[in-house]
Amino acid sequence: MAGFYVHIPFCRQACRYCDFYFTVSLKYKDELVEALLKEIKNKKKQFQNYQFNTLYFGGGTPSVLSEIDINRIIEEIKTHYNFDSKAEITLEANPDDLSVEYLKNLKLLGINRLSIGIQSFHDRDLKLMRRSHSAEQAISSIKNAQNAGIQKLTIDLIYGIPGMSFSDWQENLEKLIELGVPHISAYHLTYEPGTVFDHWRKKKKIIPIEEDSSLEQFKYLIERTRKEGFQHYEISNFAREGHFSEHNKNYWKGIPYAGVGPAAHSYDGTARYWNISSVQKYISESKSDSFNYSEKEMLGVNDRYNEYIMVSLRTMWGINTDKIKQSFGEDYVRYTEDIASGFYKKELLTKKGNDIRITSRGIFLADQIIREFFRV
Ligand SMILES: C[S@@+](CC[C@H](N)C(=O)[O-])C[C@H]1O[C@@H](n2cnc3c(N)ncnc32)[C@H](O)[C@@H]1O
Ligand code: SF4
Repeated sequence: MAGFYVHIPFCRQACRYCDFYFTVSLKYKDELVEALLKEIKNKKKQFQNYQFNTLYFGGGTPSVLSEIDINRIIEEIKTHYNFDSKAEITLEANPDDLSVEYLKNLKLLGINRLSIGIQSFHDRDLKLMRRSHSAEQAISSIKNAQNAGIQKLTIDLIYGIPGMSFSDWQENLEKLIELGVPHISAYHLTYEPGTVFDHWRKKKKIIPIEEDSSLEQFKYLIERTRKEGFQHYEISNFAREGHFSEHNKNYWKGIPYAGVGPAAHSYDGTARYWNISSVQKYISESKSDSFNYSEKEMLGVNDRYNEYIMVSLRTMWGINTDKIKQSFGEDYVRYTEDIASGFYKKELLTKKGNDIRITSRGIFLADQIIREFFRV
């Protein structure tokens, strides 16, 4: 099994918190699509033995692409790779791109999962973050997607925004529940180096919210979604049964993925590869014969173990000692048990059969717990 990732590095405007790789200049869009098609074809040898069960258009903002371009990319992938006919195909979209017509066409192209970046249902937050849409557009994009009949729908929310009160956050969650959205990815705002928010924070133009308020918002998110029947299946992800993200599950299980587009990563089970983080260089390389990864990192056994712990402990499935034995050997099982035993007593981790999972208490300290397992 494997996942396919396509990075679309364009956005209509730059959100003040974001450091993902994107550009707001759309003039290279057509050339980029040509380069993507070429990379898809070039990569097939490396991934010819895999069966792909997910395809994910991420960004940036994939919904800046026309239906024709999206279709060309999907068809090129289907032509060169073993692609499940029932594969999950996700597209990340911004609300202002989601007209009724566009959504109808996405569905016809086989997009069966849509991830809409809402972030907040409050215009004050959206303006502060410099989002390209209003709260009203956010709501109608969700309704339009539901009416278009796209099977799986997820929305992104951000909490811990400066000035966001507890009741603002409650209202965001209530809105989402009222709209009947079956999957939510909710992230605490982070101040990424080089972003406008980071700069503003240093100049005290914005004041980060207190840690207690952050924790209160996170706790409420967990309780409210649980009451509503959502499963908290990964630290930032909540879903009703049948709505989990198959693509992310692949990634969390350490399954290989092919990534195309500027700044995209690939992983073939032993090494990780990076594409160049520049639209122009990516396009010009695609025109030469030297079109290849800009970097490659062979993963040692400790790297793979650390990665496994890091992603697995953040999920409700936890880490599995059989899998550790199989992938890393007995010594790693003993080491894992040894570290984990200190956390059982504190009720931060729990063990059932061969699965070690984080408890509801442990979830608030996940990063610290995970770090304790790292081997160098
Ligand atoms: C890279 S964006 C791509 C999706 C789409 N362009 C959008 O904005 O909705 C994926 C998600 O990451 C989250 N995100 C990006 N930067 C963040 C930050 N600094 N803090 C918290 N969440 C962030 C947002 O929720 C965003 O929807
Ligand atoms: S959050 Fe999404 S729309 Fe905003 S800059 Fe980042 S990738 Fe672009």
